[in-house]
Amino acid sequence: MAKDSLTITDNRTGTAYEVPIADGTINAIDLRKIKTDAEDFGLMTYDPAFMNTASVRSKITFIDGDKGILRYRGYPIEQLAEHVGCFDEIGYLLLNGELPNPKQLTEFQKTVNSHAILHENVKKIIEGFRHDAHPMGVFISTVAALSTFYPEAKNIFDQEIRRRQIYRLIAKVPIIAAYAYRHAMGLPYVAADQEMSYAANFINMMFRNGDKNYAVHPVLEHALMVLFILHADHEQNCGTNAMRAIGSSHVDPYAATAGAAAALWGPLHGGANEAVLHMLNQIGTIENVPAFIASVKDGKGKLMGFGHRVYKNFDPRATVIKRLADEVFAVTGQNPRLKIALELERIALEDEYFIKRKLYPNVDFYSGLIYQAMGFPLDFYPVLFAIPRTAGWLSQWEEHILDQEQKIARPRQIYLGYDERPWVPMDKR
Ligand code: COA
Repeated sequence: MAKDSLTITDNRTGTAYEVPIADGTINAIDLRKIKTDAEDFGLMTYDPAFMNTASVRSKITFIDGDKGILRYRGYPIEQLAEHVGCFDEIGYLLLNGELPNPKQLTEFQKTVNSHAILHENVKKIIEGFRHDAHPMGVFISTVAALSTFYPEAKNIFDQEIRRRQIYRLIAKVPIIAAYAYRHAMGLPYVAADQEMSYAANFINMMFRNGDKNYAVHPVLEHALMVLFILHADHEQNCGTNAMRAIGSSHVDPYAATAGAAAALWGPLHGGANEAVLHMLNQIGTIENVPAFIASVKDGKGKLMGFGHRVYKNFDPRATVIKRLADEVFAVTGQNPRLKIALELERIALEDEYFIKRKLYPNVDFYSGLIYQAMGFPLDFYPVLFAIPRTAGWLSQWEEHILDQEQKIARPRQIYLGYDERPWVPMDKR
């Protein structure tokens, strides 16, 4: 049986070092003992974009990118998407590590629902934005502003206070999102309805109109719940890493969640679903698909909704979403851009360029089409991602701040700038 260690010979000095291997990793700090002389700082690793660096030990979400596996607390995403009855089960699972029994679920829902209201002044913050403000900007700013309403939130090591902020955030993010939309549209706000599920309540707050017979369509409620489940967590992605890094300074969870949401907004991350629709609009017709693929291969832009840092085979969320799309379109009518999307997928999956680079449709490729068919405006898609991801961020944040191995996140750098040089007076520059 091989010894669980690595022997490194430093060819600069001829010295050999033994570094322990645990969980398939070496501890980067162990490399610091590799020095050319006593003055030397010691060896560091260089890993831009964390391509091969684990920064946490986590028990929440497991991904095997090569096999297309995604599990929350051990449960495969396909099973959760098929069997879970309401999004609260996922929130509970991510936060507590186990699926809730009926009593635990009712208790959880009661607690979250007790926070499902916005302070009147929070509404005024939302109203301060222009009607055409990007809803993600409104969302991020309003979530950050919540920390000023709940100053107790800074007591992050008091379990009761910490959990209260977690429930508050999970309850309030859909309301903030819906009110951002209603404000933009000049529509009156719809209060949260505690009788409704998390997904139905959100649709109701968004789209309820004057019709007293208005009711959330059960297929759309189910579809949004599944989309929420698929987006709830995804281990150490850009937004979650931001959540953990910001949280590592021990700031309150509102500030950290706002930062994570800001990271999510980018077009390479949660903004990709919006970018997919812009791309499909730009392509316009099926006939233009081959020319568009050719331009991507020419380096003139990316095929949005394709490719993933971790999934190099298929994205299991995309498989569930594709099935879901059919259910939704049966109710809403087909999204005319679906044909373009299918043709793009067909051509790309047969093309050497995409095959060689292991580029497959990711979660964002079809989710935008569903959101559009359900009536959500285009710029709202990243917000739809941020709502369920809040439960994931908070689970990861809590795990992080309670992890005794963690400290304030602070990477090293390789300095490439000038060596020391004397100050130059203004008239000499
Ligand atoms: N369209 C065309 N080419 C792509 C591509 C895409 N969507 N994604 C990656 N590539 C190409 C890169 O140009 C690169 O080609 P090269 O080797 O000739 O230089 C190669 O594939 C590897 O890409 P790289 O950028 O190193 O992969 P990554 O792991 O750093 O990036 C993403 C992952 C997700 C950021 C990237 O695939 C992407 O930008 N996708 C589109 C945005 C998107 O859908 N994001 C949502 C993620 S859930």
